[in-house]
Amino acid sequence: MAEPLIVDKSLSLSDLYVNLQKQLKFLFVKEDNLLSILSNFVAAIKQTFSKVSWVGFYIIENNNLYLGPFQGKIACTNIEIGNGVCGKSAKEKKTIIVPDVNKFDGHIACDSETKSEIVVPLFNGNNIFAVLDLDSLELNSFSEIDKKYLENMCKFLSTFLINKTKIL
Ligand code: SME
Repeated sequence: MAEPLIVDKSLSLSDLYVNLQKQLKFLFVKEDNLLSILSNFVAAIKQTFSKVSWVGFYIIENNNLYLGPFQGKIACTNIEIGNGVCGKSAKEKKTIIVPDVNKFDGHIACDSETKSEIVVPLFNGNNIFAVLDLDSLELNSFSEIDKKYLENMCKFLSTFLINKTKIL
């Protein structure tokens, strides 16, 4: 049986991330299946942060981003590299914070209620194999603090997947 995730909602944003990072190490240690690991990763983020309305992976295959494990409402299944926030993050190989999605040229609205967003790329060497997308129903939900910790967590996750799943 899975150990419960412990989330203390009274913690600061940074401490919520630190607490989550510590638990992720134990959550994954016995796992070696890509889908299981990605699924629990997004569930852990959704459980931890009340501000997150949707969180999920888009995985690159044949130069397209395909919807992977996620938590939230149903979403667009296929995004071309370069399109939307996810496609732009994959193309430019960098994290993108969008404080107001209505001001982002080309934003793809899977949920019309989404107001802000952050997308973080996952690397295997110099190549991107997926992006992690977090949405919020509030404006300005994501900051440099989210960027720093999400990038760290994605780096940890990528290294873990490369060593353990043998898929990448
Ligand atoms: N808004 C994203 C599309 C994915 S959904 O938000 C789940 C984008 O512009 O790439």
